[in-house]
Amino acid sequence: MQAYTLETFNIPELKGISTKNIEEHLKLYAGYVKHSNLILEKIGEYMSDSEKNAYVIGELQRRFGFEWNGMRNHEYYFRSLEGGAKPLSENSELRAAIQKQAPSFDTWLSGFKSLAMTRGVGWAVLYYDKQTNQLTHAWVDEQHLGQLNGLAWVLGIDMWEHAFVYDYPTSEKKKYVEAFFENLNWDVIEENFTQSTS
Ligand SMILES: [Fe+2]
Repeated sequence: MQAYTLETFNIPELKGISTKNIEEHLKLYAGYVKHSNLILEKIGEYMSDSEKNAYVIGELQRRFGFEWNGMRNHEYYFRSLEGGAKPLSENSELRAAIQKQAPSFDTWLSGFKSLAMTRGVGWAVLYYDKQTNQLTHAWVDEQHLGQLNGLAWVLGIDMWEHAFVYDYPTSEKKKYVEAFFENLNWDVIEENFTQSTS
């Protein structure tokens, strides 16, 4: 199996999210890539005597979803900050899809920001469900607990404290949520949506 590779991201200076925080955050992302590969490598090694190592293999398998989703979630996250802030176009298909399901775009956005304020560490994620042709959003604990099977990722905000620890105290994480949306490149999100529906 091919090893996962570390992606690089072209993230400009952001408003309200410091370069220091992004740099430290990217190091954590690198850790998820490294450990996704390491787990697979270790499982391969222990499989040389799968009976004797059954317990160790089982525990490594349990951790794989944590590392792998940690890797993939962060790739979506950092990509969505590449290229600088871009608004969601008035003619956007995603905007139309949101407005079909919510009273207005602003109402939806406010609901999504509330989701991001869920207590605990994890992610607020907007998905597209091809089976029902609708958007749905969900809270994902840690990186992986609560990911919705088969749904395509459109937008996600990292709500681990490491995402804002250099910029805001934990009691002010709402400011980080606002900063994230101020810096969001909606062109990237629109592209995610287009791919999820095709
Ligand atoms: Fe993170």
